[in-house]
Amino acid sequence: MIDYKKLGLVNTREMFKRAINGGYAIPAFNFNNMEQLQAIIKAAATKKSPVILQVSKGARQYANQTLLRYMAEGAVEYAKELGCNHPEIALHLDHGDTFETCKSCIDMGFSSVMIDGSALPYEENVALTKKVVDYAHQFDVTVEGELGVLAGVEDEVSHAESHYTKPEEVIDFATRTGCDSLAISIGTSHGAYKFTPEQCTRDPKTGRLVPPPLAFDVLDAVMEKLPGFPIVLHGSSSVPQEEVDTINKYGGKLPNAVGIPEEQLRKAAKSAVCKINIDSDSRLAMTAAVRKVFAEKPGEFDPRKYLGPARDNMQKLYEHKIVDVLGSENKLANLD
Ligand code: G3H
Ligand code: 13P
Ligand code: ZN
Repeated sequence: MIDYKKLGLVNTREMFKRAINGGYAIPAFNFNNMEQLQAIIKAAATKKSPVILQVSKGARQYANQTLLRYMAEGAVEYAKELGCNHPEIALHLDHGDTFETCKSCIDMGFSSVMIDGSALPYEENVALTKKVVDYAHQFDVTVEGELGVLAGVEDEVSHAESHYTKPEEVIDFATRTGCDSLAISIGTSHGAYKFTPEQCTRDPKTGRLVPPPLAFDVLDAVMEKLPGFPIVLHGSSSVPQEEVDTINKYGGKLPNAVGIPEEQLRKAAKSAVCKINIDSDSRLAMTAAVRKVFAEKPGEFDPRKYLGPARDNMQKLYEHKIVDVLGSENKLANLD
């Protein structure tokens, strides 16, 4: 059993409390490799933001859970080296699908886990989430549950249709499971194609797709049922059109990729939504930068020469999210 506190990590309880009271959200960025992690830590340390490092099942398979955990431990020291003396970094399992996976992460030093029983029948979701909470809380590890189903297809997270969270279920779910935060479905989805062109309108000036609004009425109803309870939004990438354009310009093919408009995320961040999950935007920033180098310098074969620009582009993206979208800049408990 590895105690995450000894690794310098924190759970999400205090950071969520402050985020709700302060009207901002904590960024939850997925990482699979060193360059992503470096970019996340540089952004969070420079902007003095608490941050959640998320590890998905796909990331565990790609990079190895043990290695990722040691990388997160290294990240705490790296943040200090960058001049951030009191970093607040949570290491979180994203979309844990079984009790065993959650237990394995908790035993290995994760400070927070998600148990995603959202596709299960309600009572099974309650039972599984409670089992994870009962185990996790013995070690002061926080647990995110999920009600409602997000559409979207990624490596390990895939549902054809979305179902909004039913506000009438949230009190029962939170009370019976004891979960620390709740992911809800209000129209976001995973990946870079969050809406079909048919679901969108077009901006007459730019010709760009304009997505439909999120279901803020569902969020409001959830907040009314569970005042002050930490709410999580998955699938919150904005799919920056300049990155999509760069990718398409340099040989990529991402037609009609569209995400959640930033002004909607800003609005959500001011509410009880205190954790906003972003993965696809980082993938786009990385891919755009790599494609540009490959196209402009075909003779380049030193990975540092294309992964370096990719890392810089991701850092820029993460800083933008922290400062201009989520509002978590300068929100560390100790700014010294
Ligand atoms: O929620 C999904 C995350 O973006 C992780 O995706 O399973 O492809 O690593 P992944
Ligand atoms: P995006 O695909 O919108 O980045 O969502 C990521 C996510 O929800 C990770 O759990
Ligand atoms: Zn997700």
